[in-house]
Amino acid sequence: MEVNKDTTEPYLSSPIPAITARWWCKDTVAIVTGANKGIGFSMVKQLAQLGLTVILTARDVEKGKKAVESLKNQGLFVHFHPLDVSDPASIRTFALWFHKKFGVMDILINNAAVSFNDLYENSVDHAEIVIKTNFYGVKLLTEALLPMFRRSDSISRILNISSRLGSINKMRNPTMKEMLQNENLSAKQIEGMVDLFLENVKNGTWKNQGWPEIWTDYAVSKLALKCVF
Ligand SMILES: NC(=O)c1ccc[n+]([C@@H]2O[C@H](COP(=O)([O-])OP(=O)(O)OC[C@H]3O[C@@H](n4cnc5c(N)ncnc54)[C@H](OP(=O)(O)O)[C@@H]3O)[C@@H](O)[C@H]2O)c1
Repeated sequence: MEVNKDTTEPYLSSPIPAITARWWCKDTVAIVTGANKGIGFSMVKQLAQLGLTVILTARDVEKGKKAVESLKNQGLFVHFHPLDVSDPASIRTFALWFHKKFGVMDILINNAAVSFNDLYENSVDHAEIVIKTNFYGVKLLTEALLPMFRRSDSISRILNISSRLGSINKMRNPTMKEMLQNENLSAKQIEGMVDLFLENVKNGTWKNQGWPEIWTDYAVSKLALKCVF
């Protein structure tokens, strides 16, 4: 594949390949969660620049509308709908609106996530909301939207934004690690792992159970996400 030297980032081990064939068009529909700022906003902007139909979603209506407005000021038009991925009712409302307005989608970017730890901290005070947002939020939203996926080998894709902290090698519990590496791993087992983690947090035993050492709740949420899809 041809390599575009202009897009070669110095910190990547291999250069970014140039896009050699245009596989999308203005009817290619992409949804991005948690897109009022950060990486999500940046992805919406790039997709809009490429000419796709983009739905920017955000849990906060004002922040979402402000993001849409700032893109409009740059000559980019994107659609907006509120979406709180930690709230099943919000997911249902979004899915119904999306179905009525667009009917089909091609790309889902599960970007929204939370973490409450500062750099050298490891508190699990917010473990429940971290798991509810970063793992169950992605799972529920994806399940709600899957029936609307326009399946195409060349276009359809679901992009789950994970983290290196969610790598299997961060898991220190040998039994759990073995389970995660089993090729027959089921969604039920992953949910069981997540529930066990939350139980350990509740009864105060989480520190001795071999869970990931850094940003434990965030790492468990991203690890579960990586394994479930
Ligand atoms: N930045 C990094 O170094 C890094 C590294 C590895 C992985 N990641 C992953 O990359 C993704 C984006 O990270 P980022 O750095 O851009 O984070 P960010 O700037 O904190 O943005 C997170 C976005 O998610 C939204 N969000 C949080 N909870 C939500 C919910 N319940 N429903 C809907 N939206 C929600 C936030 O909305 P509000 O503005 O309302 O809070 C915000 O728009 C995340 O999945 C993160 O885990 C980031």
